[in-house]
Amino acid sequence: MTVTDLRTVLVTGAAGFVGAAVTEALLRRGERVVGLDNLNAYYDPALKRARLSRLQCMPAPDQGGGFRFRQLDLEDGSAMAELFESERPRAVIHLAAQAGVRYSIENPSAYIHSNLVGFGNILEGCRHHGVEHLVYASSSSVYGGNRRMPFSEQHPVNHPVSLYAATKKANELMAHTYSHLYGLPATGLRFFTVYGPWGRPDMAPMLFAKAILAGEPIRVFNHGRMERDFTYIDDIVEGVIRCLDKPATPDPSFDPLDPNPATAAAPHRLFNIGNSQPTPLLRFIEVLEDALGVKAIPQFEPMQPGDVAATAADTSALEAWVGFAPHTPLEVGIGHFARWYRDYYGV
Ligand SMILES: NC(=O)c1ccc[n+]([C@@H]2O[C@H](COP(=O)([O-])OP(=O)(O)OC[C@H]3O[C@@H](n4cnc5c(N)ncnc54)[C@H](O)[C@@H]3O)[C@@H](O)[C@H]2O)c1
Repeated sequence: MTVTDLRTVLVTGAAGFVGAAVTEALLRRGERVVGLDNLNAYYDPALKRARLSRLQCMPAPDQGGGFRFRQLDLEDGSAMAELFESERPRAVIHLAAQAGVRYSIENPSAYIHSNLVGFGNILEGCRHHGVEHLVYASSSSVYGGNRRMPFSEQHPVNHPVSLYAATKKANELMAHTYSHLYGLPATGLRFFTVYGPWGRPDMAPMLFAKAILAGEPIRVFNHGRMERDFTYIDDIVEGVIRCLDKPATPDPSFDPLDPNPATAAAPHRLFNIGNSQPTPLLRFIEVLEDALGVKAIPQFEPMQPGDVAATAADTSALEAWVGFAPHTPLEVGIGHFARWYRDYYGV
């Protein structure tokens, strides 16, 4: 492969938990990656900078791959247009977003700006520059209060219970429209509670680890009556990259009289990426206690607004499409997480 043959992949949210891990995997296989992030202070920007410096230290391969970082806000339409114009990415992995269900109750406008206006700017960039494939993050939260388990892409998702979830569902609809009108191949991936090294400080594994090691109580919502399909970061990365490598195509059996919600007559596909092993929250806490070698002090609290009691992924569609579904056992993944946490924070 020559330098000119090498495509550029744009990864948004490259300083984020999932974005940094996906970028690392792309760099390992010799891709040329442009990473975008605004390094906002929703959580400690020092962690985002630390993830970035690891990427910046990775050796650039001979044939012109390697990493470049652009600090930009998705919301800035003219800067985004300039980015697409100058970088000409052939593929886009869009992971930047205002994440988090609970924060969307306090600050809905952050979600409107990053997840709706920002997503619109990504779609426009893809449309005007002939991007060959857009892979974007959706979320298990689109299933809202659905009780039918496991969650399947075939189930209706019309009752989101947080604005975060509504923006992710909106992204799926917006992407379908661009696929239909402009022929943009686009794949939406519904991630289920991702955990692992370099994780997010606003999510349970990091919040719990911090409190447990400080001898402080952990807040256990819905009195512990919660279940989550915890999915290890390496499995998410593998799923994202396998999907990147297989651009969405129209579904030849799509029937407008009985439309499949996960496919389309346009090149748009939706997949769950989850571990398909829902774990009760109290079991999750036990596994974390074992890995850290310290007992937690649980403080039981009611259900939080916007939260859902349980998630579980049906990943048969993903497996049929790319021959892979997440499988890392929680005990293994939490072991890696706990070692990283102690090492990174020196505790
Ligand atoms: N981690 C999970 O469990 C999970 C579950 C479901 C869906 N998701 C989705 O996956 C994607 C990645 O999540 P994550 O866990 O890595 O989150 P993260 O917060 O660690 O990463 C997102 C990154 O996007 C950046 N960002 C946010 N708004 C931006 C903007 N307006 N302009 C430029 N950069 C911006 C942030 O600075 C951050 O570094 C998100 O779209 C999230 O909604 C994550």
